Amino acid sequence: MKTLTTALALIAPVHAGLRFPCSTLTTQRLDPVVEPGKIPSAHVHHIVGGNAFSATMEGDVGARATCTTCQMAEDFSNYWTAQLYFKHPTNGSYHKVPVIPVQPLLGGSDGAKSGLTVYYTQYDLTRDNLNQQKITAFKPGFRMTVGSPTEEGKPQVGLRYQCLQGQNRGPELDSFPTGPCSGGIFTTHHFPACWDGQNLDSPDHQSHMYNTIQYDGFLDAPACPSSHPVRMPQVTYETVWDTTQFNSLWQSGAPNPFVWSFEGSAAGTHADYMFGWKGDALQRAMDKSECFYDGCGSITKQAMSVANQCTIKTTVNEPVEGWLDKLPGR
Ligand SMILES: *[C@@H]1O[C@H](CO)[C@@H](O)[C@H](O)[C@H]1NC(C)=O
Repeated sequence: MKTLTTALALIAPVHAGLRFPCSTLTTQRLDPVVEPGKIPSAHVHHIVGGNAFSATMEGDVGARATCTTCQMAEDFSNYWTAQLYFKHPTNGSYHKVPVIPVQPLLGGSDGAKSGLTVYYTQYDLTRDNLNQQKITAFKPGFRMTVGSPTEEGKPQVGLRYQCLQGQNRGPELDSFPTGPCSGGIFTTHHFPACWDGQNLDSPDHQSHMYNTIQYDGFLDAPACPSSHPVRMPQVTYETVWDTTQFNSLWQSGAPNPFVWSFEGSAAGTHADYMFGWKGDALQRAMDKSECFYDGCGSITKQAMSVANQCTIKTTVNEPVEGWLDKLPGR
């Protein structure tokens, strides 16, 4: 089993893609992809990115937003996953699990406030196969999801958990770790990267895309199929859930006490993507081929102290923090 750490160690000098932090924008029950217009949506999401985020998002998000919590100043996309909660093993109350920045774990430190780290990988992190297809950036209005909250008990390709023991990420797991993790729980959501070339969305928010990931989304992807011939950037989210304050409540041998905000099975994790880059900024970065992480200066970056000032109003006024008798919306 190759972990990201192994993959990174194997990186050849020629490789490309973006990796950058985004601070938390909001944590509330909104989902403009799966439940547009619905206030509140069914369950709580942890959301990062541009300030055009709202229950209903149509058209060119990148043209409407005026700030972003992401380091790439021209990226007004929104990225979100379900929020993680701790379920008290004896009294059944729920507590939101805090999020901490990912980058320190990857050897950087960037001043992000909670949030998640986003990748736009051109092909893979090793670029062993140089016959790669051209990467076409997403278009305004594009959106997609990966995974499903209702895939009960079935591991989903590209959706992974790791049990952090200090700086050690450990093996990738299909489901929640089975014992306390001293450094928290690391989750990875890899999206599919082959597009049908026509639809900005589809009824299930997935069938306009095709997933060529076999095990790890950072490694060689096979060619896109003729049904979905257009190779898009491989979008990935990494999140560190700081579960450490709950470890003392996890008795040895007891089952995993962490649940997603919809309280489905662990395998039912999912993530949503709403494209919102300004103009051709993402395409410019994808056309570069000799650098990784920053787009070779093709994209303007902002200090995270500036990104952290980007906020939106809370639309759904209900508690999502502290001890809760039940999960919001459940
Ligand atoms: C459950 O336990 C937590 C932590 O001790 C406490 O704060 C919370 O109020 C308890 N919930 C109930 C319903 O008793």
